Amino acid sequence: MSRALIGRIAATAGVVALVALLAVIGKAWWDSRIPGTYSVMAYGKHDYGGGPIPPNHEAHRGGTSVAVLRGPGGTPDARFVLVARSADIRLSSGRVVHALTFNGTSPGPELRVRQGDLVEVVLRNEDVGVGVSIHWHGVDVPVAEDGVAGVTQDAVLPGESYTYRFRAEQVGTFWYHTHQVASEEVERGLFGAFVIEPREPEPGVDLVVAAHTYDGIATLNRDEGGGRLKVAAGTRVRLRLINTDNSEHRLTFSGTPFRVLAIDGTDLHDPGTLENVSLPLAAGGRFDIGFVQPATSVRVGFLGTSVALALSPHGAPLSGEPPATAEFDPLAYGTPAPTPFDARSDFDRRFQLTITRELGFFDGEPGRHWAINGGIYPDVPMFVVEDGDLVQVTITNETNVVHPMHLHGHHALVLSRNGTPASGTPWWTDTLNVDAGDSYVVAFRADNPGIWMDHCHNLGHAAAGLTMHLAYAGITTPFLVGSENGNAPE
Ligand code: C2O
Ligand code: CU
Repeated sequence: MSRALIGRIAATAGVVALVALLAVIGKAWWDSRIPGTYSVMAYGKHDYGGGPIPPNHEAHRGGTSVAVLRGPGGTPDARFVLVARSADIRLSSGRVVHALTFNGTSPGPELRVRQGDLVEVVLRNEDVGVGVSIHWHGVDVPVAEDGVAGVTQDAVLPGESYTYRFRAEQVGTFWYHTHQVASEEVERGLFGAFVIEPREPEPGVDLVVAAHTYDGIATLNRDEGGGRLKVAAGTRVRLRLINTDNSEHRLTFSGTPFRVLAIDGTDLHDPGTLENVSLPLAAGGRFDIGFVQPATSVRVGFLGTSVALALSPHGAPLSGEPPATAEFDPLAYGTPAPTPFDARSDFDRRFQLTITRELGFFDGEPGRHWAINGGIYPDVPMFVVEDGDLVQVTITNETNVVHPMHLHGHHALVLSRNGTPASGTPWWTDTLNVDAGDSYVVAFRADNPGIWMDHCHNLGHAAAGLTMHLAYAGITTPFLVGSENGNAPE
């Protein structure tokens, strides 16, 4: 063969290889584009967690619609009306933020009910153009009351309304927020605290402290300074700390020993006293802390900022930030107590949820995107369970940032972290701060049929694809998401 001929063959082969490569990339790009309208049921790789494939599961048709899985009827014990509208809100410094509000305020009205109450909330949308919804974060409501636009209902457009009804069976600190374009609307103010008190409330001061950043300004209860409160010495205080932001907050507490009474709305068993520890509060997570007010001042603040709430008998000035010598870790805090299942239980399904970043396309955009079990959304798994299953999930974070993972409709028991078994109080969570490099094993009972979101509560991450669903066999959704249809939960 002449040298020229060899050269020509090599060049042709090179062009063919390049065309083939471009075809592969082009197909990956084409396939990644998310349609204008689609059902979340049509996506996701069905993952049965090693359990049996439910009969007729693939069909999905003829199943029960999430829309009929509503809360109970009857006369409500507690009834609220929340009107979503844009409004200017004033921070403590007088600075005005153009916000999205419930009833003209942000945080929206603090809703307090008693355990066992039948709760009814009428949501009306006055003027939020892309629509709104309300998700009851941490409250394990029937799925039609879960408030996810495009999965459990349609977004409520201006002039429309939706009525939520559920029985408040848990006790504790929760919050509510829109789940339509949540990454923008929550940040702009569409959220509020939701507290379920025990039938016999404890005496003392009981206060919600919601951390939120408006237009880049950190606040506690809309106060840039954090606020001051007069509390008589000797008073029992319960502070319900809620992180409504997208990033973790490290809270500090000083002035007196304290206890972490509850995590994500569930009381802890035998919580010991703490001092000089910082509390890593997950985005979307809650810590209740308790202490007895001393004669001097007590301070709760964000690590490294001047935003701090001070409580004292005489409105005394703030003392300086405490030296946080250690970080609070629930894994070995408190003492064990019986749980309905544990690490030795016989699980019906075991799932793996591994978070990585992968090179590829997300809705036609090239880049290094969030991926679950190797796939970029919507090529993520859909965990399929049957009603009654005992389910184990291993959540592994192989990225270099924290992901606060939030499963709707269920509370999971933490069994271990990086192979170390949980050895203290039963630790039930709905928003688990999975740090870079960490791997948690959690378990839950699948006892709330529906189609449930399972996503990162850094809502920007969720909008960028860090989201998937837990689906019960035999349940389907008639709702659609997508740019044409207007439903956009993230
Ligand atoms: Cu607080 Cu799916 O969210
Ligand atoms: Cu994340």
